[in-house]
Amino acid sequence: MALDIIIGAQWGDEGKGRMVDTLAAHAAIVARFSGGDNAGHTVTVGDEVFKLHLIPSGMIHPHSIGVIGNGVVVNPETLLAEMKKLEDKGIDVSPARLKISYGAHIITPAHRALDAAQEAARGTGQIGTTLRGIGPAYVDKVARRGLRIGEMSDPESFADRIKAHVEFTNQRLTKLYGAEPLDAESTAAQFTEYARILGPYTADTGSLIDQALKKGERVLAEGAQGTLLDIDHGSYPFVTSSSPTAAGAISGLGAGIQHIGEIVGVTKAFQTRVGEGAMPTELEGETAGRLRGSGANPWDEFGTTTGRPRRVGWLDLMLLRYAARINGFSKLAITKLDILSGIDPLKVCTGYTAGGRRYSDLPHGLTGLENFEPVYEDVPGWQEDVSGARRWEDLPAAAQNYLRKIEQVGGVPVGWVSVGPEREQLVVIAG
Ligand code: GDP
Ligand code: IMO
Ligand code: MG
Repeated sequence: MALDIIIGAQWGDEGKGRMVDTLAAHAAIVARFSGGDNAGHTVTVGDEVFKLHLIPSGMIHPHSIGVIGNGVVVNPETLLAEMKKLEDKGIDVSPARLKISYGAHIITPAHRALDAAQEAARGTGQIGTTLRGIGPAYVDKVARRGLRIGEMSDPESFADRIKAHVEFTNQRLTKLYGAEPLDAESTAAQFTEYARILGPYTADTGSLIDQALKKGERVLAEGAQGTLLDIDHGSYPFVTSSSPTAAGAISGLGAGIQHIGEIVGVTKAFQTRVGEGAMPTELEGETAGRLRGSGANPWDEFGTTTGRPRRVGWLDLMLLRYAARINGFSKLAITKLDILSGIDPLKVCTGYTAGGRRYSDLPHGLTGLENFEPVYEDVPGWQEDVSGARRWEDLPAAAQNYLRKIEQVGGVPVGWVSVGPEREQLVVIAG
C-alpha cells in the first residue's frame, strides 16, 4: 500500500479535513506534516461538527493512528485543549493512538507574542497571520535555535532551554517592538508540566510510518494550509512559513518518496482566501454574498480558526493548473459544488492579462500576482440542488460540464465531488 497525500490546491480551507475523513476510512495512519494550529479542519459526522487544529482529521475514525510529524510546529497548550475536547466527544487520543515526532518544533507564548508584535509593526503591510506564533517558531527552527518535542524527555535541561528561549525572545519583544516581556520562570514551569503530560506521546514517527508502509498498510498525509500559501511557491510574502505542498509531506514526515501513491489536490468549486495578499478573481456584492453565506450555516465562509470572513471569488483555473504542476496532483477532489446552485452564468478564470499582454501561464510563479487581471469564460450554471447527488449521473448536465471544464483546464482528472459537509454527501468518480 502507499502513502497518499492530500493537499490544499488553493489558499487553505478547501475542505481537506472533510476529504481526509473520507479517505481515512481505509488508512492505518493519518499524519499531519506541516503547519500548526493555524489550521482549522472541519469534519462533520451527523450532528457532530469536529474542528481540528493539530490533531489529524483521520482520528475521528476509531481505527486510525494519528501522527504529528517532524514538519509540524506544536503548541502544547492548544494541543492539550484539543485533546480534551475530542476526549469529551468520545474520541480516543491516548498515547496508543496519537504519536508526536520527537523532531516536531514547539510553539511557546513567546512565539505568539512575537507574531502579534510583528504583525502590529507591519502596519498597512500586514500579512494577516492567524497570530498562532507559526512564523516565529519556524524562524527559530531555521535559525537552528528551535525547541523540539524530543527535548521534553530531559525535564531539567528542557526547563533551562525554555528559560533561555523566553529571555532571548524578550529582548526582541521589548527592544524591537516595545512589547511586554514574558515571565521566563513561570513559562518554564508550565512547559515542564506539558513535557510530563506529552512525554508518552513522543515517538519516532518516521520509523512508524515506514513500518506501516512496509507491512502493506495505507498511510494518509494530511495537508494543512494550501499550495498558494507555500513559503516557496505561494504568493510571497503573503504566505505561511512552511511547505504545505506534496514535497513538504515527504520531508515533514521523513517518509521515502518511493511510497507515494495518489496526490490528491483539494479545491473548492470557487475561490476563497483569508488574510492579505492578491486574489485576482475576488468578488464583492451579491454573488460574493451567495458564495460566502451569511454565517448561519457551519460551512459558510468564516475562518475555522479565527472566525474572520473569507474573501471569495470565481474559481481561478490558472492557479489550479499552477498548483497541479507544483504538486503533481494525480486526482482532484472538488468541494462545495452545492454552493454554486442557482448562480447562472458561472465564470472561471482561464487566463490573465498584464501590461496589455495575455498570459496562459504565470511567468514568475505567483510573484506580482496583484498585477494580473483575470480573463473569464462564462460557463452555464444550474438551478437544481445537488446536495443529494451520489453518482455522476445524479448531477445536472451543466454541473457535469463545469467539472469537465475544471479537468480540462486544470489538467487533472476529478476523482471526488463533494456536495455537502457530511460524509455521505460525496460523488465518487474514481478512488
Ligand atoms: P480545511 O481547512 O481545508 O479542512 O477546510 P475548513 O474545514 O476550514 O473549511 C471547509 C468548510 O466547508 C467546512 O465548514 C466544511 O464542513 C465545509 N465543507 C466541506 N465540503 C463541503 C461541501 O461539499 N459542501 C458544503 N456546503 N460544505 C462543505
Ligand atoms: P487550513 O489548514 C486558510 C493564512 C493566514 C495568513 C497566512 C499566514 O485550515 O487550510 P500564519 O498564521 O500561517 O503565519 O498566517 O496564511 N493561513 C490560512 N488560511 N487556511 C489555513 O489553514 C491557514 N493557515 C494559515 O490567514 O494569510
Ligand atoms: Mg481550514
